[in-house]
Amino acid sequence: MTSIAVLVGSLRRDSFNKSLAENIEKLAPAGVTFETADLNLPLFNQDLEADFPADAKALKDLIERSDGVLFVTPEYNRSFSGVLKNGIDWASRPWGQNSFNGKPAAIVGASLGALGTTQAQAALRNVLIYLNTEIMGQPEVYFNATTGLKEDGSVADDAKGFLTDFVNAFVAFIDRHKN
Ligand code: FNR
Repeated sequence: MTSIAVLVGSLRRDSFNKSLAENIEKLAPAGVTFETADLNLPLFNQDLEADFPADAKALKDLIERSDGVLFVTPEYNRSFSGVLKNGIDWASRPWGQNSFNGKPAAIVGASLGALGTTQAQAALRNVLIYLNTEIMGQPEVYFNATTGLKEDGSVADDAKGFLTDFVNAFVAFIDRHKN
């Protein structure tokens, strides 16, 4: 069994990134479980660390008990979303208890254009390197939701192949890091 925590950086009800995450889950090989984190957390405030919010503790627990972490990010103003940064900041704290330490991680992202999320993913990768995740370099996925998602939220046929390759590669990457 391989367990993957999924952090989606959009709270939007009809988020393309949520759809992308759901489709990746459907394309995963047997024996892989996915659990999506609740990132609707209070804004990080160091004053709150002494009485660590239960929702933020739940995020840390999810990451720590999972074998890997999948980041699914929108691009907001040429970076990743504040929602995602807020969740990452909570899970990296308190000092010395960074939940991401040594975790296999991968990034994907969906936007409305062909080049969308390139800059969001680059910015996020920098943060995840600092947080000492083991980050998968290839394959990259810059998902164009305009052409890649159907009306019902399912994935277009010509996108299934590269998403399947991505999730297979990530599961193999996680399994290599288990041993
Ligand atoms: C965007 N969007 C966007 N897209 C992009 O490719 N590059 C960008 O820099 C931005 N900037 C940006 C800022 C803000 C504040 C918003 C709300 C949106 C568009 C974005 O890709 C689009 O809204 C996606 O649909 C957001 O992802 P979800 O919510 O569908 O997952």
